[in-house]
Amino acid sequence: MIDTSLKIIKNTNSKLHELDFDNIPFGRAFSDHMYVADYKDGAWGDMRIEPFGNFSVHPANIAWHYGQSIFEGMKATKAIDGTPMLFRPEMHAKRINTSARRMCMPEFPEDAFLEAVYELVKLEQAWIPKKEGSALYLRPYMVAMDEFIGVQVAKTYKFVIFCCPVGPYYSKAVKLKADDKFIRAAEGGTGEAKAAGNYAGSLYPAQIAKQEGYDQIMWLDAVNHKRIQEVGTMNIFFVINDTIVTPPTSGTILKGITRDSALTIFEQKGYNIEVRDLTIDEVMKAGHDGSLKEVFGTGTAAVVANVKEIGYQGDTITLNPESYTVSPFLKDTINGIRSTRIEDVNGWTVKVV
Ligand code: COI
Repeated sequence: MIDTSLKIIKNTNSKLHELDFDNIPFGRAFSDHMYVADYKDGAWGDMRIEPFGNFSVHPANIAWHYGQSIFEGMKATKAIDGTPMLFRPEMHAKRINTSARRMCMPEFPEDAFLEAVYELVKLEQAWIPKKEGSALYLRPYMVAMDEFIGVQVAKTYKFVIFCCPVGPYYSKAVKLKADDKFIRAAEGGTGEAKAAGNYAGSLYPAQIAKQEGYDQIMWLDAVNHKRIQEVGTMNIFFVINDTIVTPPTSGTILKGITRDSALTIFEQKGYNIEVRDLTIDEVMKAGHDGSLKEVFGTGTAAVVANVKEIGYQGDTITLNPESYTVSPFLKDTINGIRSTRIEDVNGWTVKVV
């Protein structure tokens, strides 16, 4: 009989006093505890919350060679009365299992996922920054642990969640390069999974884009290099005249939870929305003829990030984020829901009490 009860081993050496809440670098500060579960003999077990610390890993760890590694990113915030809250945790529980299925990894039970994030956030609530727009970022991930160098589906895995107090991922509007050479994902590939390899493959083209003065790449489709996909750290939205347009998540694009929330918020506000393919040519033309009013990205880490420039094949369009109205409305609404300043009419937040 496998023991799936959650054990909690408390850290007696908190590092909280070392954190400067007014100056938090993204992803470099880690809280005191982490959640760990192990998969062996076909089942998850040994669920525990323990002091944050290093793992000892075999040099032949199979994931380090063949990349069975998937992750999530989610946020905990504080309500105005100080109650910790999670944002749409069940969506993250489901999405990690979509990624797991694509990468031949075992699904992690949704109820265990929800218990894990709930108990971890309860324990780490002092690490949640109070400033609106800041949060405790949770990083659930699953990684293969077999000690073997043959190419095959692993039989052992770790599921881990650690926490980072964070401020905004992007502190200013970004410049995007629409890449006409490299691709992030192709039909039938792993683009919809939140798999480590998708990010590894994006680093080289992103490095080139950075050398050219851009912050990020806006990926185009793998066949014709025309249809806009996503930015890699976020899904992308365009406001053309009075219509909000975003590409459909048709297998090559990550099904963003902030993207989904944004579409609901826009619909409830009565905006015109089109979820449809759009090409880089259409965007560049709209940028030049003045019908492109706003471009912004959405993501858990980024929340809502404005775009101020798009470059494509030597052509550049410049936008004026100062004049944006849709993007600030969305950012304010999401941050407001996460702080209880705005009513959560959709029941997205879960209070950790
Ligand atoms: C997130 O938005 O949570 C992500 O995982 C993007 C990341 C690469 C920072």
